Amino acid sequence: MTTRFRLIDLIADGCFHSGQSLGRQLGISRAAVWKHMQALAETGPEVHAVRGRGYRLSQAFVPLAEEAIRAGLGSPVVQRLERLDVVHDIDSTNEYLKRIGPMPGENGVGVCVAEWQRAGRGRRGRAWVSPYGANLYLSLAAQAGEALLSSGGLSLAVAIAVTEALQDCGVQGLGLKWPNDIFYQGRKLAGILLDLSGESGGPYKVVIGVGVNLKMPAGAALGIDQPWTDLSEVGLDLDRNHLAGLIISGLIRTMDLFNEYGLRAFTQDWQRFDLVSGRTVELRQEHESMIRGVARGIDDRGALLIERNGVTRSYMAGEVSIRLP
Ligand code: BTN
Repeated sequence: MTTRFRLIDLIADGCFHSGQSLGRQLGISRAAVWKHMQALAETGPEVHAVRGRGYRLSQAFVPLAEEAIRAGLGSPVVQRLERLDVVHDIDSTNEYLKRIGPMPGENGVGVCVAEWQRAGRGRRGRAWVSPYGANLYLSLAAQAGEALLSSGGLSLAVAIAVTEALQDCGVQGLGLKWPNDIFYQGRKLAGILLDLSGESGGPYKVVIGVGVNLKMPAGAALGIDQPWTDLSEVGLDLDRNHLAGLIISGLIRTMDLFNEYGLRAFTQDWQRFDLVSGRTVELRQEHESMIRGVARGIDDRGALLIERNGVTRSYMAGEVSIRLP
């Protein structure tokens, strides 16, 4: 671990720490501590320096820790885990799992969790704002055969798994906006990004990326270009290591079920969380054409059904917005 990240961990509790004691613990001078603190002003997290008292983080956090995440996993899950990389600084956890190592074995998975993503990616070419230590940024890589992918709807099943993990942490009132946006009180709380790589014909490496907004710092929030929320707004302070464990277990369970039964194993759960069914929606597609009609749930490939002038058609892609009727 670099000195800078050790320094952040030392002040993660949000209390004041003098430059002298930090320097002593790290084996560096006070001036070197000051220099690192200056560098943090550019990358985050936000540090307050007060003469005579020292430095403290403006927002305390519990660092991600491999041991703490593993402790929340049952042994069947641990056996499937080929890697669990907890990193401080990464471009994107999805990109990391795409570029490293061999394809996971048939039943294996690789996981990466990061404190900070410099270039977090969202759907449809958007950025995913990923400040240090504030939220959860997690990716899981697994092997996927042609059959699994062609059956469609995996990303919807994944969204259900993440929603249920959040519910297990005590978050009530979550909903899903097709295909996989997790909403809380009308605004986006979490998002999912699936990436596929591999030779044509498979097997493919599927990387499932999950971002959950937990405690977005005000400064970072300025970079978000859609209505969003986080759990701190409603006074919830989730343990990220615990949540990561629940999401990893949920994703593995979901992949297994999906492999065996496809999307039909999740249809009822989808209906339970579906926020758009029966509402007037607009679907904006890649080439910017707009479909307006009433949402009628999903078909067996996970496509969105929209009724217009008495005719219902299915749509595989696009961005939905809910309109007042
Ligand atoms: C969306 O736009 O709704 C998808 C957001 C997905 C964000 C997560 S954070 C972990 C993983 N790494 C990324 O770069 N993106 C995903």
